Amino acid sequence: MFTRRVAVVGTGYVGLTTGACLASLGHQVVCADIDTAKVERLRRGVVDILEPGLSELVAEQVTAGRLSFVVGASSAVSGFADGGDGSGQAEVVFLCLPTPMGVGGVADLRAVEAVVEETRELLAPGTVVVNKSTVPVGTAARTAELLDRADVAVVSNPEFLREGSAVHDFLNPDRIVVGCDTAEAAERVAALYARLGAPTVLTDASSSELMKYAANCFLAMKLSYVNAMAELCERVGADIGDVTEAIGYDRRIGQAFLSPGPGWGGSCLPKDTHALLQVADAADFEFRLLRATIDTNTRQRQRIVDKVRQAVTGRRTGSLTRVRLGLLGLTFKAGTDDLRDSPALAIAALLRQAGADLVGYDPALVGDPSNPDKPARTEVDGVPLVADPLEAAQGAEAVVVLTEWPVFRTLDWTAMAGVMKQPIVVDTRNLLDSATLRRAGLTGIGLGRRDTG
Ligand code: UGA
Repeated sequence: MFTRRVAVVGTGYVGLTTGACLASLGHQVVCADIDTAKVERLRRGVVDILEPGLSELVAEQVTAGRLSFVVGASSAVSGFADGGDGSGQAEVVFLCLPTPMGVGGVADLRAVEAVVEETRELLAPGTVVVNKSTVPVGTAARTAELLDRADVAVVSNPEFLREGSAVHDFLNPDRIVVGCDTAEAAERVAALYARLGAPTVLTDASSSELMKYAANCFLAMKLSYVNAMAELCERVGADIGDVTEAIGYDRRIGQAFLSPGPGWGGSCLPKDTHALLQVADAADFEFRLLRATIDTNTRQRQRIVDKVRQAVTGRRTGSLTRVRLGLLGLTFKAGTDDLRDSPALAIAALLRQAGADLVGYDPALVGDPSNPDKPARTEVDGVPLVADPLEAAQGAEAVVVLTEWPVFRTLDWTAMAGVMKQPIVVDTRNLLDSATLRRAGLTGIGLGRRDTG
């Protein structure tokens, strides 16, 4: 099997997963970050990200001598041991950099631009620069312009990994997409993944950049549709679980990504839906479906607040002033400690604005006693955190489940009921078994559920 010398710039979720996984496929990988302390930690085998299998894979690949960490993009680009062919240079350079939402919903490309500026003179002729971050359409072309090197190709190769299953998703992809106007460069990048045997779409850079948004926005649309359908279920007395199960058997729809919830969040879907709207606006295209997808999601948060209000006070307009609520789960989904654009935090902010007195518990935020780099969080966005769900329930007029952590299913709900002021659980993830709650003397209120409202 052939191997390549690969530099990966940026060691966030995408970069670190890409680096470790490409090393596990046999490539020689040097990962770079500008954060010296982070590089130090990675060299010691400390992975800050809560991602199943990632720290083990990093340790394994470092020990195997295929993966190393350096400070700064330029050190990565020329950080390879000379293999005897006169070259200690990377053959492929992955850019895995943050592209936060900037002014007016436009992705902020300053990190990409800075790295291009730093490395442009250092790249060996024939190097392929690969953009793996989700970037606006035209970024590959813009990167090529900034590089201004006819002998260096720029390729778009979006990633599709989900937080919480990043390593699994990388190594078991539904597809590999490589976009470039130079066939040789596209094939070189596609060949890096050859061992994975995934369907591969070779296309132009703009189509590749656009398809990443198209995928994430489609997923967001699917969820907004389900959340709207759950509301309709409540109004007509139907059950969203049965409805989604039934429609999911249609292979054109599929069972995945059909769970109603407090709204979609995280570092990708909100950013990408706004960015695509921006792309559409710039192209003078009124993308109403996408706008409705976003509006439905924003409205979902208020809908949850109204549900809590109704449950606690018996009235849709009842006051939440000084009403004590226990929040279970604050991360944007289970299986991660990521709080970025978490719907739970947006809902907490609305509840606080309404005067409620909140206490939160999240299993990912209680710290790791064996790891001094992972202390317990005591507060997030003004919500005090406790280390035990029972403490969050203490004196609460309702417990609100906001993240679908499986451990919530098996809590001692009888003990929870025993310390609450009112026996109410608002389950925004339809996670809990209604019979279990009933046995514990609790009234469960879900989304669009026949048995719990
Ligand atoms: C998402 C995509 O799923 C990945 O394919 C993509 O690569 C990634 O963005 C990215 O662009 O980097 P991620 O942000 O990790 O991945 O999270 P998802 O698992 O997609 O969840 C997004 C949101 O939808 C979460 O708030 C989650 O709780 C919510 N969700 C998901 C539901 O409410 N119901 C569901 O059935 C599924």
